[in-house]
Amino acid sequence: MTQTIFSGIQPSGTLTIGNYLGAMKQFPELQDEYNSYFCIVDYHAITVPQDRLKLRDQTRSLAAMYLASGINPEKSTLFIQSEVPAHAELAWMLQCVATVGELERMTQYKDKSEGKESVTAGLLTYPPLMAADILLYGTDIVPVGDDQKQHIELTRNIAERFNKRYNDIFTIPDIKIQKVGARIMSLQNPTKKMSKSDENHKATIFLLDEPKQIEKKIKSAVTDSEGIIEFDKENKPGISNLLNIYAGFTEKSVDEIVKDYAGKGYGDFKSDLAQIVSEKISKIQERYYELYESEELDEILDQGQEKAELAASKMLKKAKKAMGI
Ligand code: ADP
Ligand code: NA
Repeated sequence: MTQTIFSGIQPSGTLTIGNYLGAMKQFPELQDEYNSYFCIVDYHAITVPQDRLKLRDQTRSLAAMYLASGINPEKSTLFIQSEVPAHAELAWMLQCVATVGELERMTQYKDKSEGKESVTAGLLTYPPLMAADILLYGTDIVPVGDDQKQHIELTRNIAERFNKRYNDIFTIPDIKIQKVGARIMSLQNPTKKMSKSDENHKATIFLLDEPKQIEKKIKSAVTDSEGIIEFDKENKPGISNLLNIYAGFTEKSVDEIVKDYAGKGYGDFKSDLAQIVSEKISKIQERYYELYESEELDEILDQGQEKAELAASKMLKKAKKAMGI
């Protein structure tokens, strides 16, 4: 039987090359092999305050970006989370299976709540919503960046607990992490992951950046004073991150790139990298701008909603029956 994959991205800002290399880049190939669901997870985005109009725009923008990077709506289901109510319904049920203790242990929750006077309850209960997203479709494999490992582990635990306590209805999903690009780091602080919600825009390359901006950001990326191009995450996190980005955007491995640049300095390396990233991104942007304006995009999202709804409502029914509601 064909296996199923599910992947969600939050419309919480413009996509970054971290999102692209860690997640999106692998989607076009995967959709040929798997029954594929690609979801714009707007319910996840509102766990922190969002501007209403911006959120709408970012949702549409993300849909266009999925398609521009190679998602084919004939092969995959592309849809908006909040348009399929089963996600919120199952999320509530799973919150009644998860414990506060295990939610409080999530490192993403700790990171995002650290130093804040108050955070929303949704920030804490984000993982059961993510579990609902995944479990509704009988997902076998979740292709994500390595920052999501702990959440997938929790999804497995929640599903196993539900299956044991109520009825064996959920497929236990496996995680699939890209080898290259699993974790792209901030250009300004290479011990922190690159994120679309980082307030320091110099730290992040967005998929909608212009070549000039890309060049500027890469040139000012933090490295070290040694001047030797080597992969050493511990001692040279900056240059190692740039090597990962280079490898992610080319057919070359990190080892091959290191060999190619033997005896060369950071300046040469950085200007080549800026050009490589710009070229790849501008191809995606061309298609993106066409789609963003089109009615075709609305039609694709309507179709996606219908397809997702059909699958999700079946699973929700089973889950309700299992719990006795
Ligand atoms: P962000 O942190 O940028 O808001 P999301 O939480 O929406 O990203 O994640 C969307 C997808 O992108 C997930 O699969 C996640 O694992 C991946 N991802 C996010 N940031 C990175 C990164 N810096 N490196 C690699 N993958 C990433
Ligand atoms: Na990659």
